[in-house]
Amino acid sequence: MEVNPEEYIKIIPPPPVVLISTLYGNVKNIAPFGMNMPISSHPPLYAIGVKDTRDTYKNILETEEFVVAVPGPDLIREIDTTAESFSREVSEFEKAGLTPVASKVVKPFRVKECQSNFECRLAWIKQAGDHYIIVGRVVAASIDDRIYRKELSRLVIAPVYHVGAEEGEYAGKGQLLTGK
Ligand SMILES: Cc1cc2nc3c(=O)[nH]c(=O)nc-3n(C[C@H](O)[C@H](O)[C@H](O)COP(=O)(O)O)c2cc1C
Repeated sequence: MEVNPEEYIKIIPPPPVVLISTLYGNVKNIAPFGMNMPISSHPPLYAIGVKDTRDTYKNILETEEFVVAVPGPDLIREIDTTAESFSREVSEFEKAGLTPVASKVVKPFRVKECQSNFECRLAWIKQAGDHYIIVGRVVAASIDDRIYRKELSRLVIAPVYHVGAEEGEYAGKGQLLTGK
């Protein structure tokens, strides 16, 4: 079966949706991003694909900081709310009822309801087609104590996958297979 090259994204498993928290002055901005990946351990670097029309893009360019928060399947409605296009002066944290928690190193806030959060300082940006690759250096990271499992944490964290073209279409988690 041949598919349109511009639809290649539909024939690979999706990355988990993350929420990116940024600041516009005192306004706490947050939005979901499906284009995201870890790209280096030493130093720790994380990449996201962001359109330059997004407030997130403008905020990161101006402040050079952001927080990546990992939502679980219990936050589907909040993910959809934060994806709505509010004006830059409106906090999606408030609209979605998410709780901001002060970060350890950067100014943008972590998200209390998320399973893990990591704080990033902008490393570099490069245009890639209709998105910009934004690479952040991870300067602090935290995980909910209840799901911390040393090397297995990444398997226990429940992902949310964006599977449809439309908002509101998501898939849930895989299984942790353990012999213990
Ligand atoms: C599940 C999901 C994944 C998304 N992934 C991306 C993405 O990877 N890159 C992007 O630029 N926009 C993405 N969007 C759209 C933005 O989240 C949306 O335009 C949002 O309103 C941007 O908010 P902002 O203007 O506050 O940054 C996604 C939306 C949803 C619902």
